[in-house]
Amino acid sequence: MQKLKVKGKNILSGEIKISGSKNATLPILAASILSEKKIDLKRVPLVKDVVTMCHLLKYMGSNIKINSQKKNILINNKNKKFKKIAPYSFVKTMRAGVIVLGSLLARFGKAKVSLPGGCAIGTRPVDIHLYGLKRLGAKIKIKNGYIFAEAKKGLTGAQIRFPSISVGATENVIIAASLAKGITYLKNCACEPEIKNLTDFLNKMGANISWLGKREIKIIGCKKFNHVSHQVMFDRIEAGTFIIAGALIGKKLKISGIQTRFLNTEIKILRKMGVRMQISKDYIYILHSPKIKPVKIKTEPYPGFPTDLQAQMIVLMTKAKGKSQIKENIFENRFMHVPELNRMGAKINTLGNLSYVEGPQNLNGAEVMATDLRASVSLVLAGLIANNQTVINRVYHLDRGYEDLEKKLRQCKAKISRIF
Ligand code: UD1
Repeated sequence: MQKLKVKGKNILSGEIKISGSKNATLPILAASILSEKKIDLKRVPLVKDVVTMCHLLKYMGSNIKINSQKKNILINNKNKKFKKIAPYSFVKTMRAGVIVLGSLLARFGKAKVSLPGGCAIGTRPVDIHLYGLKRLGAKIKIKNGYIFAEAKKGLTGAQIRFPSISVGATENVIIAASLAKGITYLKNCACEPEIKNLTDFLNKMGANISWLGKREIKIIGCKKFNHVSHQVMFDRIEAGTFIIAGALIGKKLKISGIQTRFLNTEIKILRKMGVRMQISKDYIYILHSPKIKPVKIKTEPYPGFPTDLQAQMIVLMTKAKGKSQIKENIFENRFMHVPELNRMGAKINTLGNLSYVEGPQNLNGAEVMATDLRASVSLVLAGLIANNQTVINRVYHLDRGYEDLEKKLRQCKAKISRIF
């Protein structure tokens, strides 16, 4: 099994160009099923989850060409014998597979999609997805671990208020409603920038979707779509991760290829912590930041602080002088990196969904275990500031969502390598 070896205490300097967003690419790929016309996606991050979604689409009958040099994907879903099935083998490794449910139902009136099941960070049910699709007229049954959905006469627009905010459910229902008969009003939607990127993509293709307010969307169903070329937005979480790396151990580290207006909450919190930054519209310089101050924060749906940056933020908190606090409001079991960080010398106490971090602590290199995507990268960050060497096991978690992580860090003088 592959491992990562990180030698700590090397100052990061230079430039890191941020890749396209994994969490924007996955629903866009799922939405591609809606159309028979050619789709050209640019700035696609070729990470494991995206490749798995492409394999799922290929399995169903899509013609997909990946150009790894140009980071482009060309899709053609004209196939008349499209399979309306998303098997367990794909959905178990990549939960976003469940988003093909909305597009299969909308285009073919039928879908059989594996239930994703739980994962390391929590139970992660799909009840809100199913609630929304039922409100559009789908008949849904769960049998043998699969969701069987049907809408023989097609889906019909409806007024839907999501019982709680879910990124995936909002995406699934937007995709389905864009090809439904009549008008759909969605309330209490998630409003992550990746969802706006999805609605931009669908509108370019010919859908009629408008955001009426921060959490309210109107969708006038359309009948068919046009060819489309679309550039995926930057990865906010990758950007946040490298900004935190810069705050920990950077000296004029440039993070480019971003839109800083989507990072306002993160920037505000980091400034409060004493991280020195020069901010422009599409790049940030992280300057040497020797005095990190403690903060008390909580994870929330966008525009709040993202749960996907909680593990990385905890590493920065170990450098703050005093007691920091972070409350995890999105997932019930997302502190699995804490025992590993404590093994490296951090002083973190977890009580339910709260973690208290005492700093500043010097971390020492150790052999540690990655448990999920963001936990893995937090261990890389810890390795970058630790004395001696850190070895991270189970790095396949990292490959699900970070494109060229080692290469990007090495270009900025980090000492990181993969053991095969
Ligand atoms: C997406 C992101 C993930 C991020 C998460 C929260 C993708 C591919 N993944 O995941 O990186 O961490 O948003 O920002 O974009 N829930 C239910 N029932 C449902 C759906 C969700 O109870 O039907 C719960 C979840 O268990 C969780 C919360 O709602 O506690 C938020 O989950 P959701 O926003 O749906 O996350 P994902 O779309 O799975």
